[in-house]
Amino acid sequence: MSSVRYGVLVSGRGSNLGAIGRARGRIGGTLAGVVSSSAAAGALGIAEGLGVPTRVVEPVRGEGRDTYDARVIAACESLELDWIVLAGWMRILGDRMLERYAGRIVNIHPSLLPAFPGLHPHRQALEAGVCVSGCTVHLVEPGAVDGGRILGQRVVPVFAGDDEAALAARVLTEEHDLYVAVLARLFRSGATPEQVLARW
Ligand code: GRF
Repeated sequence: MSSVRYGVLVSGRGSNLGAIGRARGRIGGTLAGVVSSSAAAGALGIAEGLGVPTRVVEPVRGEGRDTYDARVIAACESLELDWIVLAGWMRILGDRMLERYAGRIVNIHPSLLPAFPGLHPHRQALEAGVCVSGCTVHLVEPGAVDGGRILGQRVVPVFAGDDEAALAARVLTEEHDLYVAVLARLFRSGATPEQVLARW
């Protein structure tokens, strides 16, 4: 079993955190902490229920990305995190964070990337008239938002009459399953995640 310590970064509801937390025995490594960009995030209650230590790092008005990132890094370091799992984290990570955890940040996005990056992916999918959508787990790399090496995807049908909420709910179920599967593949073997990625 790998000894990777990973933390989940959240900003809101925390359903992906809940799925990861419930499956942490199967995922391997250690779910070592949760960092939230909002003190009001429902995810904090989920973390508490899981018995996982939390840190809240709320942005301060007028603060630059570098300064905010430095505070997030300090929170991650205080939890001794090796890997960062973004799950509904609503802040764009700056260079500082991307350098500190280079190659060790994963994100989930509720579309089949590279289609529909950024905000409102379900609305984008419905407006484009696609017949399938889904979700993507990818590495976070410098450059485009929601870019980076794709590690896994799940496809869901889009039905006539779907609205954003219906499509989001159908995709979310797959998100939970996909995130657990990708993290388990990364963390559960005896090899380091970097070795696992080399033959992904
Ligand atoms: C998920 O749809 C995730 O893909 C997106 O934000 C949402 C977070 O949901 N980035 P939750 O907080 O995990 O419930």
